[in-house]
Amino acid sequence: MDQARRNVKREQFVKTKNLGTNLEDIDAAVSILRLGGLVAMPTETVYGLAADATNENAVLKIFKAKGRPAYNPLIIHVKNTRMAEEYTQWNDVAQTLAEKFWPGPLTIVLPSRINSKIAKTARASLPSIAVRMPNHPVALNILDQLDRPLAAPSANISGKISSTSADHVLKNLNKKIDAIIDGGNSSVGVESTIVTFQPQPTILRAGAITPKAISNEIGSKIHHYDKKGPIIAPGQSKSHYAPNAKLRLNAIDWKQGEKKLGFGNVNCDLNLSKDKSLTEAAQNLFNFLHLLDSSDPITISVSPIPNEGIGLAINDRLRRASLKE
Ligand code: TXA
Ligand code: MG
Repeated sequence: MDQARRNVKREQFVKTKNLGTNLEDIDAAVSILRLGGLVAMPTETVYGLAADATNENAVLKIFKAKGRPAYNPLIIHVKNTRMAEEYTQWNDVAQTLAEKFWPGPLTIVLPSRINSKIAKTARASLPSIAVRMPNHPVALNILDQLDRPLAAPSANISGKISSTSADHVLKNLNKKIDAIIDGGNSSVGVESTIVTFQPQPTILRAGAITPKAISNEIGSKIHHYDKKGPIIAPGQSKSHYAPNAKLRLNAIDWKQGEKKLGFGNVNCDLNLSKDKSLTEAAQNLFNFLHLLDSSDPITISVSPIPNEGIGLAINDRLRRASLKE
C-alpha cells in the first residue's frame, strides 16, 4: 500500500477535509476519489456523496457512511453521453433525452452492458443502471479530471432530509467521509427526475424535468410509477426525506405550537415562496425543513403547494417526508 493510499485510509472516519472550489482543492478531491475515498460534492439538484463507481470497495463505503440498505442502487454520474454509452445499452430515446436535458436534472435507467465495469454493489446487482450527467461546473470538472464514472447518492443519512448546502452535509456526515467541497447552495433544490423505459416509459421519481417535457421529447405517453405494480424502483417504496418532526401537509390554518412552513401570502415561520414561485420553493424546501426540524416532538405544518411543474416533486418529497414507515 503506498503512502497516499495509507493517508486516505487513516484519515477516514477521522477528519473530513473542507474543500473549496479552487483548482488545488478540486485536484485534492480528484486524488481522494482516485484512491477510493468519499467526497461530498455539489450538483445542481442536491449535494451528492461521490465515489469511483468502478471501485467496489469505494462504493461499499458510501452505503456504510449513509446507512443505506444494500438493495437500493446508486445513480451513476457521467461526464458525457459517451461515458454513459460505455456502461449502458444506450438507445435512440436515451440519446434524444440526453440531447435535450443533459447536462441537467434527468436520470435515465437503462439495461446495463454485459461485463460493465460499474461495481455490482452500486447497481444493487440489478440488470439496469441509472445514469445522469449533472449540470454543475464542480461536478463536471471532477468527472472530467477523474475520467471515471461516479456513484453519487444524495449526501445525507439514508431516509433523512437531503442536503442542499455544505452545512447540511456536515451536520450528518462529518467524520464519516473524506472530504466535502463547498460549492454554495444547490440551484434546483430537489433530486433529479428518474425515467425508465421498461416495461414502458415511466417516471420513477418526480423532479425539475416534468413528465410533460419528457413526453413531448419522446413523442409518447409517459406513465407514473405505481408502487402497487411490480417493483422497478427499489428506492421509491418507503418513508424518505424525513425530519424528526411530524409533518402536517396541505395546512390551510395553523394550530398553536406548530412550526409553520408557508407558501404564498401567509403568516408563517418560514415561507417557501411569498411570490408563489415553485422554482423558489424547490430551492428552499430542504433547507427550511433542516431549519425548522428539532429533536423535540414537534409538528411542522405546510401550506398546500400547487401540484404542477416542479410542484409535483415538492409534493412528492413532502408526502414521503410525512410518512414514518
Ligand atoms: O439529483 C439526484 O439524482 C441526486 C444527485 C446527487 O445527483 N442523487 C440522488 O441519488 O438523488 P439517491 O441515491 O438519493 O437516489 C437515487 C434513486 C434511488 O431511489 C434509487 O432507487 C434509484 O435512484 N435508482 C438507482 N438505480 C436504479 C435502477 N437501476 N433502477 C431503478 N431505480 C434506480
Ligand atoms: Mg436520496
